[in-house]
Amino acid sequence: MHTLKVRLEERERGYPIYIGRGLLSQLGEVARRHGLPEHVAVIADSTVAELYGEAALSSLRSAGYKAELLTFPPGEGSKTLEAAAGLYDGLLARRLDRRSAIIALGGGVTGDLGGFVAATYLRGIPWAVVPTTLLAQVDAAIGGKTGVDHPRGKNLIGAFHQPRFVLTDPETLSTLPRRELHAGLAEVVKSALIWDEALFRFIEERLAALLSGELAALEGAIAGAARVKAEVVSRDEREGGLRRILNFGHTIAHALEAATGYQHLLHGEAVAWGMRAAVWLSQERGLLASAERARVEALLRRLPRPPLPELSPRELLDCIRHDKKVLGGRLHFVLLRRIGEAVVNTGIGEEALLAAWKYLEDLQRGNP
Ligand SMILES: NC(=O)c1ccc[n+]([C@@H]2O[C@H](COP(=O)([O-])OP(=O)(O)OC[C@H]3O[C@@H](n4cnc5c(N)ncnc54)[C@H](O)[C@@H]3O)[C@@H](O)[C@H]2O)c1
Ligand SMILES: [Zn+2]
Repeated sequence: MHTLKVRLEERERGYPIYIGRGLLSQLGEVARRHGLPEHVAVIADSTVAELYGEAALSSLRSAGYKAELLTFPPGEGSKTLEAAAGLYDGLLARRLDRRSAIIALGGGVTGDLGGFVAATYLRGIPWAVVPTTLLAQVDAAIGGKTGVDHPRGKNLIGAFHQPRFVLTDPETLSTLPRRELHAGLAEVVKSALIWDEALFRFIEERLAALLSGELAALEGAIAGAARVKAEVVSRDEREGGLRRILNFGHTIAHALEAATGYQHLLHGEAVAWGMRAAVWLSQERGLLASAERARVEALLRRLPRPPLPELSPRELLDCIRHDKKVLGGRLHFVLLRRIGEAVVNTGIGEEALLAAWKYLEDLQRGNP
């Protein structure tokens, strides 16, 4: 088992991330150790509830908890205030009071929604998170950002609310659809590229095992990538500066997702395309050596992914402009100096973005 720590300054306490195969069966004990109050609502989407709801409840109950299961329909469409309101109703009906807690069991949607409900119900009750997608295990469950979407954009309503602990059981990935697993791997690669050369080497060596879902390899990758996120957010809890490097590959990824109505690509798939563009730009700007770029490109090429969506350069720029406006005016584009070290650049203009887009289109056509 791996135990990592998210350290937080300020008033809030830090919390541990436990990673180990079979850990779900110890959820109750871990909750006890962290002093979660007696009455617990496990929040899960209906798919995950079906697969792991009983295991979570029975572990909690054998540790003496009064445990309930609240479910909602799976998918990003549930990350709404309406879905949160439905969960408030469920919590009130089951009489969860201030001496209660929430456990979010599922992917990033469940973590964001369940965490948001925990942050707001009765002005905030304690919570913990049990991530069951690779994306959530290495990214969404760490950092304390919770929230829901608004018709005008994703994640626009939310709160910072740190969990008491994160409990990650890689065995839950055995039921995750392959496409979701592969998309999550793109975020693992991102973590390695921005922070951890040794993790990058690990992925290069074990990629076949990772792609085929081998749990021992996945556990190593999760521990490595979760450590990157934990270290970065520990140093920059509320997104002043350093945390921006986590957006490596994401400027173009977000535009790709938005321009295709979030239908065509999974988030990690969009990030894989975005990283290829960012790596190319990093070399163009004279930051990244060409041998390093070739090494990164060789790895990214091995990640399965759907084709690049057809998009006019104008649509792409419109989406990036929109993103920029929401973020307060300035485009912070993340580039690589070398494998394991990222820098934030504020000088990437539209021309450079268009050139990067053209590079992706050429890659897609098979003539880079
Ligand atoms: N808070 C953050 O810092 C942060 C960071 C990154 C992403 N996010 C958010 O995370 C969300 C995406 O997360 P996601 O990709 O995990 O999506 P998700 O939660 O919708 O899960 C994807 C699908 O996998 C299913 N699933 C989950 N675990 C499973 C398992 N073990 N076996 C079988 N099926 C399983 C779910 O039912 C769902 O259909 C987005 O809303 C994004 O905004 C948040
Ligand atoms: Zn991401």
